[in-house]
Amino acid sequence: MRKKIVAANWKMNLTLAQGEQLINDILAAGIRLAEGQEVVISTPFPYLVKAKSLLKNYPGFYVGAQNCYSEKSGAYTGEVSAEMLQSIGVDYVILGHSERREYFQESNEMLAKKVDQALAFGLKPIFCCGEPLAIRQAETQNAYVAKQLEESLYYLTEEQLKQVVIAYEPIWAIGTGLTASAAQAQDMHAFIRSQIAAKYGREAALCMSILYGGSAKPGNAEELFACPDVDGGLIGGASLVATDFAAIVSKL
Ligand code: G3P
Repeated sequence: MRKKIVAANWKMNLTLAQGEQLINDILAAGIRLAEGQEVVISTPFPYLVKAKSLLKNYPGFYVGAQNCYSEKSGAYTGEVSAEMLQSIGVDYVILGHSERREYFQESNEMLAKKVDQALAFGLKPIFCCGEPLAIRQAETQNAYVAKQLEESLYYLTEEQLKQVVIAYEPIWAIGTGLTASAAQAQDMHAFIRSQIAAKYGREAALCMSILYGGSAKPGNAEELFACPDVDGGLIGGASLVATDFAAIVSKL
């Protein structure tokens, strides 16, 4: 069964005390997860151990990092490795977020190495893809996203690929309040799934969870999640408000 996932991406927000309060408020919101439904809370690195501790007795709730380095270990001051994340019990890791691609020049090739590291240490990658506004306006978004998938994922075996979650995040919708329409989201998700099927076969494609990210809110989550190829969301701003995040999860 294809997992349905709502993942929170806190980005670079909150103090430890605020993050602990947010997780406790989310847990107190009475979220009931059905079989196959998951919640992933992706905190800044310093809060991952505390998040793991707070979530450990809640089935279906998982901890995610927002990045890992592309090498196993060594003289990379300031970086955090996949093995370090594994050692503290992190479950998922967001890779290739558009903000990291932009601000830290993360290439598709570098991201392939990051995916490699994550899988090598048992982390489930949430691999982000998505086009900038100019590409959408030129209507070449499919080719743009296909290139991101090909250059970062297509070296994987089918078994490895089954550990990967894909998040489609149109850059023009991230943090803008301008959400992709359900039709736009469904079109791209169906295209991504067709690309995976062409490379790895129908069974692998049908198993793939494909999340939507980009101004997903309580008011649009139901329509987005009702799309046949939308398997949940990767949530930024709304994940920082417990009631909003719980409302989005309730739409799974
Ligand atoms: O990773 C999710 C994030 O990029 C979406 O942000 O604020 O548009 O939900 P937001």
